Amino acid sequence: MRPKPHVETIRKQVIVAISDQDPWWRDAVIYQVYPRSFADSDGDGIGDIDGIRAHLDHLSDLGVDAIWMSPWYPSPMADAGYDVADFRDIDPAFGTLAGAEALVTEAHAQGIRMIVDIVPNHISSEHLWFKKALADPEAPERELFWFRPGRGPDGDQMPTDWVGEFGGTTWTRTTNPDGTPGDWYLHLFTPEQPDLNWDHPAVREEFEDILRFWFDRGVDGIRIDSAALLFKDRDLPAVVDGQRHPFHDLDEVHDVYRAWRRVSDSYPSRALIGEVWMPEVDRFANYLRPDELHAAFNFDFLGCAWDPQLMRECIDRTLHAHAAIGAPATWVLSNHDVTRHVTRYGRTETTFSFENNLDGTPVDLELGTRRARAAALLSLSLPGSTYVYQGEELGLWENENIPVDQMQDPMYARRGHTRDGCRVPLPWTGDEAPFGFTTGEPWLPQPAEWKDRTVEAQTGDPNSMLELYRSAIRARKTEAGLHQDGMTWLDSGPGVLAYTRGRDFACVLNMSGAAVALPDHHSVLLTSGPLDGTLLPQDTAVWLRIQE
Ligand code: GLC
Repeated sequence: MRPKPHVETIRKQVIVAISDQDPWWRDAVIYQVYPRSFADSDGDGIGDIDGIRAHLDHLSDLGVDAIWMSPWYPSPMADAGYDVADFRDIDPAFGTLAGAEALVTEAHAQGIRMIVDIVPNHISSEHLWFKKALADPEAPERELFWFRPGRGPDGDQMPTDWVGEFGGTTWTRTTNPDGTPGDWYLHLFTPEQPDLNWDHPAVREEFEDILRFWFDRGVDGIRIDSAALLFKDRDLPAVVDGQRHPFHDLDEVHDVYRAWRRVSDSYPSRALIGEVWMPEVDRFANYLRPDELHAAFNFDFLGCAWDPQLMRECIDRTLHAHAAIGAPATWVLSNHDVTRHVTRYGRTETTFSFENNLDGTPVDLELGTRRARAAALLSLSLPGSTYVYQGEELGLWENENIPVDQMQDPMYARRGHTRDGCRVPLPWTGDEAPFGFTTGEPWLPQPAEWKDRTVEAQTGDPNSMLELYRSAIRARKTEAGLHQDGMTWLDSGPGVLAYTRGRDFACVLNMSGAAVALPDHHSVLLTSGPLDGTLLPQDTAVWLRIQE
């Protein structure tokens, strides 16, 4: 059992003091800030660091333990900042490095840790390394990337037929200084995101130095983008079912994370959190061995259907895989890449995968909201850490009505699905767009119906999503059982998930088609919706005190 964090109650806020020794990532609530869409301080319609600083009270009222900041570095924004031109500075649209440092200090003063996003698989085509590599076929920087001659007599066919992570092709041909067609370079995402060659020691050194740069500025953790993609098979074989994949999850990647772990271990209480999309649980768990990453996002849970049997299996699979290596599980419902879960859970088909595009299929937002409320009590009471994507605490849904000419996501052109719908600026105050997000024109349109979902409209309304999240996160901090390892399933009827944590805490989620009786309990701590007398209605969850 882990020691309980030092907890201090100040007015209605609960602040956890930041300690150097605390393995905080094991059961933290981590809030993802998508800086373009959080809050704009200067009226250009794009969220920024000063906007975040001005709204830190929202995060401390919510009670989150840490912020994960999506990329804020200088970038041409070909992929919303996941095309980084310089990892040691801040994009002028977001502010300055001094502003970022001030945010870290101010967040810490509120008891909130900071996690920054590092993108090691690729950089921006505007990064100095790539500009040098492109300008001169003899430049040593060429070796830092994947430049290869084309196939066929004229070299006009791509070196491989690999399909990119957004769909589409993965090679772009260069032009030699004399104007003739040159080699091709590899990009698993867009042409503006050339892949780095991780076999090269300079790439490894550079990224270890970038980690130190941010750790030296007090940052508490690193979120690692596309963490399983870094290495490529140098023979560039075709992708063949049943054979080793040429660029997914190559074993060499683990050496890199062992080296990164040595860097993070040289600072107190720093965490490495991987974005590892991997259906094979044992391969996924390899990233969480004791000398590698501290945690990784649970996309199995995120993509799971609203189905009691599948959800229970997913929870068991997760806990089993993590227990085997002593790593904490994570619980993720939404992020900046996936359809918001109010929308997902309001559809007939409630799963998520990039391959199965459900955009535009009918959505029952009332049903989705009811389930999202229940899912909040589930994800905040399972053993491990929980991620909250900005706006999820407001019950925002996917904006599926963004006009094509306003879409910015490069995925749309390649896959016909846009991630813009989950990246729409937050509604803070007022009755109409831009809802206090900006004094200008928000970079993506907000639905008019969000007037009921603003922070202002929900604050103090006991039935609102925001107050549910606030109450649940506050209760989570002080519930002893929620800080103990493990959980025990209770015998419950079909379609009902019920488990205990510790001696006296239980969560019950009714996913069956009818209201059900609650197990024996002493008192009700929190419900995601009204009880039906003594019964727990469909798609509703409850936290119970089960002993006096
Ligand atoms: C990750 C990010 C996503 C980005 C991609 C390429 O999956 O979460 O937003 O487009 O990597 O960097």
